[in-house]
Amino acid sequence: MKESELQLEYINRIAELNAGRELKYHSVVFGCQMNEKDSEKLSGILERAGYRRTDREEDADLIIYNTCTVRENADKRLFGRLGVVKQFKRQRKDLIICICGCMMQEEGVIEKIKTSYPYVDLIFGTFNIYKFAELLYNRLVSDGPIIDIWKESADIVEDLPSRRKYPFKSGVNIMYGCDNFCSYCIVPYVRGRERSRDDSEIMEEVKRLADDGVVEVMLLGQNVNSYGKGLSKSIGFPELLYRVSKVPGIRRVRFMTSHPKDLSDELIEVIRENESIARHLHLPLQSGSDRILRLMNRKYTKDRYLDLALKIRDRIPDISITTDIIMGFPTEEEGDVDDTLDVIERVRFDGAFTFEYSKRTGTAAASMEGQVSHEKVRENFDRVLSKVQEVSKEQAKRFEGRTMEVLVEGENEKDRSMYTGRISQNNVVHFKKEGLCIGDFAQVRLAECKGFYYNGVAVL
Ligand code: 5AD
Ligand code: SF4
Repeated sequence: MKESELQLEYINRIAELNAGRELKYHSVVFGCQMNEKDSEKLSGILERAGYRRTDREEDADLIIYNTCTVRENADKRLFGRLGVVKQFKRQRKDLIICICGCMMQEEGVIEKIKTSYPYVDLIFGTFNIYKFAELLYNRLVSDGPIIDIWKESADIVEDLPSRRKYPFKSGVNIMYGCDNFCSYCIVPYVRGRERSRDDSEIMEEVKRLADDGVVEVMLLGQNVNSYGKGLSKSIGFPELLYRVSKVPGIRRVRFMTSHPKDLSDELIEVIRENESIARHLHLPLQSGSDRILRLMNRKYTKDRYLDLALKIRDRIPDISITTDIIMGFPTEEEGDVDDTLDVIERVRFDGAFTFEYSKRTGTAAASMEGQVSHEKVRENFDRVLSKVQEVSKEQAKRFEGRTMEVLVEGENEKDRSMYTGRISQNNVVHFKKEGLCIGDFAQVRLAECKGFYYNGVAVL
């Protein structure tokens, strides 16, 4: 029996167990788009098994946390939540608490949950997430908690139910894991070796999504530029991106994340020549200092990054380039931060996430000499943050007054007479509803630039 058929069988068994009861689930996701996508699958499985979604944790019969462990504060947030949930569990013995995701693959975490939060019912990891239905069924028919963590798996199991958060846009996994071993990063340890999904399966999923009304897809992988390695046929990311952009009904294609070390000229050309590929590239810099980049094992230099980013700006002038920066990597000094500031000024990032370095046990950087104190990092952090804000505000100004295509993504939370959408460059635009619907593409004049977003007027 195919794995997905087996899991569907377990979904039916759960539905039978729960027959006649009105059960609700609450789903919490920490972390990146990959986790968001995984949680859509978990929700799909639960809904097929008869659970209904609730936004209120206290009303739920089942709560599932999908965890992240990329930085330490993600761990702290989970433990905070588990403390709160303890009282719900005391009140309702049949409440089921499940935890999965990257943090469960980290050393020591399971032991900590077992001793400090023994009321958790089901724990699984990133490699056996597709077994959720089977694990949940086993928990429902047994008395004690179930903990099942795998160290690795080469399997990719995809054709299971999924509950999309948005009807009009969706993430699509193209690869799993990462082989880069940047010295600060825990991802290769918790998500395992790089595995690319078969291109024909990706194309089928995209076509199915388009048939179902999806107009924007985001291709997801830790390092999309190395897509295709290890597949029996020869296909790279530029070719895959091109094919996805040609699927009828798909009007906009995004992707995340690109490693600068292997972003090819071919990819730049494919983006340039295909309007439906978003004018947005997320290109993590991490640091502008050659010395720090070497310690980080990033495999590029400041000059190579600059050459690449400026080449992209030259070939695709309208593109927005965003980045990630880590502050306070071991041994980082003022001079290194000056190099990072220099790159920010020269590339003129349209946006940047700035993170304080977080020591992750088991990574190479965790045992490096010269860990930097929090106080020292804060001094430099503010310098970098204000430079990033200044530059990205100026960058956003360049589109002010232009009429651009906006995907209408939802009602404005503060003013229900307005919509919020995004331009191809990923900037947010607010504008009056004017008879449009969520999921439409609208022509909107970006009347006023407010720094990181625009107030616009729909042009009908
Ligand atoms: N500390 C701080 N930031 C980190 N990132 C990854 N690992 C760490 C860490 N240990 C950041 C990187 C990456 C983003 C997803 O998270 O900037 O690009
Ligand atoms: Fe982590 Fe580097 Fe892989 Fe990104 S490329 S997931 S930062 S190891």
